[in-house]
Amino acid sequence: MRSYSQELITKIKKKKVNVSIFGVGYVGIKLVLALAKKNCNVSCFDKDDKKIKQISSGISPFSYISNREIREVKKNIIFQKNLREISNADVIIMCLPTPLYKGKPDLSHIKNCWDKIKNYIQKGQLIILESTTYPGCTEEIFIKYLRNKFFIDKEIFLSYSPERENPGDSQFNFKNTPKVVSGIGNNSLKICDNFYKLITKKTVRSPSIKIAEMSKLLENIYRSINIALINELKIATTKLDINIYDVIKIASTKPFGFQKFFPGPGTGGHCIPIDPIYFSWLSKKKGVNVKFIELSSKINQIRTKWIIKKLKAIAKKISNPKILLLGLSYKKNIEDTRESASVKILEDLLKQNYKIDYSDPFNKKITLNYRKKRKFLFSKKFDKKIIKKYNLIIIATDHDKFDYSILKSSNKTIVDLRGKFKNIKSKYIYQL
Ligand SMILES: NC(=O)c1ccc[n+]([C@@H]2O[C@H](COP(=O)([O-])OP(=O)(O)OC[C@H]3O[C@@H](n4cnc5c(N)ncnc54)[C@H](O)[C@@H]3O)[C@@H](O)[C@H]2O)c1
Repeated sequence: MRSYSQELITKIKKKKVNVSIFGVGYVGIKLVLALAKKNCNVSCFDKDDKKIKQISSGISPFSYISNREIREVKKNIIFQKNLREISNADVIIMCLPTPLYKGKPDLSHIKNCWDKIKNYIQKGQLIILESTTYPGCTEEIFIKYLRNKFFIDKEIFLSYSPERENPGDSQFNFKNTPKVVSGIGNNSLKICDNFYKLITKKTVRSPSIKIAEMSKLLENIYRSINIALINELKIATTKLDINIYDVIKIASTKPFGFQKFFPGPGTGGHCIPIDPIYFSWLSKKKGVNVKFIELSSKINQIRTKWIIKKLKAIAKKISNPKILLLGLSYKKNIEDTRESASVKILEDLLKQNYKIDYSDPFNKKITLNYRKKRKFLFSKKFDKKIIKKYNLIIIATDHDKFDYSILKSSNKTIVDLRGKFKNIKSKYIYQL
């Protein structure tokens, strides 16, 4: 009898594998490049034509990926429109967005994509979901259709492998971060494991798809709660006149049982503000209230509001305040402004009619919803000359590209939300 699993494993081991990837965003692009580098044939599908056009002409739409990285492997990448082409794929991977809609998981991107491609699925293919989602979701979406058409885990293979991408991180990358793999059965697990071994040093086999899905949520719930904790402690220690950065430094000398987290203006990105809600939504459906998760989301939002309130009080002390906000991205050295607390601060101050500009080398332009209209703002170049025009500078996101020494000698009022001036005591510097 024909063994589809053995055939697929043989192809993978010979690196003669055709891969189709849906969603070439922050997560998908890394996968595309890693596989293309290993000489796999990679077909990319993305509904954002502008992005595909850029990548296909060798231009990176992402700050942390160079044009060179794309150009080096472009010969192994095909940019596809024709969905029928997935019939030729050995492995199909979805790296699609999983946002929230009205406080609930929005799986429309995955479901719409699946509806369009499912009729082209062939025996012998492995389907992998990489998007972050709640436990049970992968099976809910794919299994009914597949079961009607194929023998699961014999003719068709289904896996979930959560992504641990940390854009902009120079230490941990695709290669040296262990990759969790799971499968609907032993064959799916084995194929998935072999597949990711092509591009990562270490894989970790999860006992089930549900455990793998939940493990990803646990990682992000853990971050959300610890960020909320340190953000709340920052508010309290500010009142107590205790430098939280010194506290973290001392506490982190403990070699076990403590991991350091730093305060900031709130959370952002496509993970921390969203993924924990996937779990609290699911728990609520089962009648369990997961209070920690909800509290951490709330505290992270309160932190942004607290900062805005403090900023207004500081601005009141300045006659005719002219504000320059540094950094719009939700974290440093990348361009991602999704759910960014810095953007919320900018929007709020604009709505209150403050004179405010921003500087962000990764975001030359930003579109805001302002009084029911779209408003475009353009980044100011941050240099000695430009800061003369402002009397209040907010360090919202601490990109390494900013020359902070300009600020040190400026005598401007500075509101530091990232601890850049944590060791400087000055009446001009507010550590919030
Ligand atoms: N960004 C991160 O750091 C990160 C880290 C780990 C996990 N994740 C998870 O990975 C998933 C993807 O996140 P991302 O940050 O890469 O999102 P993204 O928005 O950067 O990329 C998703 C891409 O999918 C495309 N797309 C949407 N619907 C499509 C469709 N039907 N067909 C083809 N393309 C379609 C979009 O145009 C976009 O380019 C999410 O579930 C997220 O939670 C993200």
